[in-house]
Amino acid sequence: MAATASVGSPTSEDLAAEAERLFEAGLADLGYGEGEIARAAELTWKINRLKKIKNAVIPAHVYQRAEVIHGVADFVGDSYKLSRLCAESKAERVVFCGVRFMAETAKILSPDKTVLLPAPEAGCSLAESITPAQVRALKREHPGAPVATYINTSAAVKAETDVVVTSANAEKILSKLFSEHSKVVFIPDELMGRNLSKALGKKIGSELVVWKGRCIVHENFDSSSVALYRRMYPGVKILAHAECSPGLVESVDFVGGTGGMMDYVGRTKARSYMLVTECGFGDLARSRFPGKKFIPMCRLCPYMKATGLPEILRSLENPTPSQIVDLPADISARARRPLERMFDLAEPSRSG
Ligand code: 13P
Ligand code: SF4
Repeated sequence: MAATASVGSPTSEDLAAEAERLFEAGLADLGYGEGEIARAAELTWKINRLKKIKNAVIPAHVYQRAEVIHGVADFVGDSYKLSRLCAESKAERVVFCGVRFMAETAKILSPDKTVLLPAPEAGCSLAESITPAQVRALKREHPGAPVATYINTSAAVKAETDVVVTSANAEKILSKLFSEHSKVVFIPDELMGRNLSKALGKKIGSELVVWKGRCIVHENFDSSSVALYRRMYPGVKILAHAECSPGLVESVDFVGGTGGMMDYVGRTKARSYMLVTECGFGDLARSRFPGKKFIPMCRLCPYMKATGLPEILRSLENPTPSQIVDLPADISARARRPLERMFDLAEPSRSG
């Protein structure tokens, strides 16, 4: 409460200026009404003042709601970029607008910072698909095979593994592992694992062991309408996230993580794009590339959409115990090693 009082109250001019800023950032183009923008402005004004007072930084994943991305985020990006930037930030507090595995990663890399997850219920179906005991069983079953884990896993699961990967570097890192090993275990995303097996020419089971986890957003896209879309929208470029099924991935123009997908849109001359991923990504692409046309083909992630401005304000003012990300020291230390290995393998020049 005391913290809120120190923020003060916005004047009507402050609120009008903040609403104008949100309008200019593109919220109206995304369908936000005047009343919604005015309500958001009151919260973003307070959050932005409070984050300075509390020396906090607000990272936001690209799937977050537009009022979070345009209203309060200090940096926006994919899982890889966010993990890097959180580790480099000098702020005392990190208010993570994303899901739990991302906030845990920030805590692992910056154990001295206070890391807050405004929506503590923001999980991930992939992270929930595997336990540390199941990873230990896989290691017993495949002795000597390195275990690469997608970043979408709990800290306790990461702690059992050899290297973390993200959608931005999975192929590169697995290819390096295969240069030294004949078998690699990849957890927990089965569809991404199958896509990697095709890209790397490795057999599922005997060379690349995969787990049975699925992203509840990306597993539901199917390839059956791709040919129809191409006839309906001649020249359209279709991009799919690497968590989609192999059948879909082989029928699109680009497959990768959200960072790679955004770069592709930026460097490609085509006028129209279909982005097969979570809907927040399309909203962000629309505001970054106003001259391009985006054909809707998306699904909402309930976990990614759990974070709203009231939860962010609450976590900054006076966080509930469940909004504070805390990890046992031994798990944190063990989970840090595979994350650092990822940075070394993904960007050897930076760690050199
Ligand atoms: P990116 O790292 O590609 O942003 O993916 C994160 C995620 O959760 C995708 O569903
Ligand atoms: Fe997890 Fe899928 Fe949601 Fe990403 S989109 S957080 S992988 S459930």
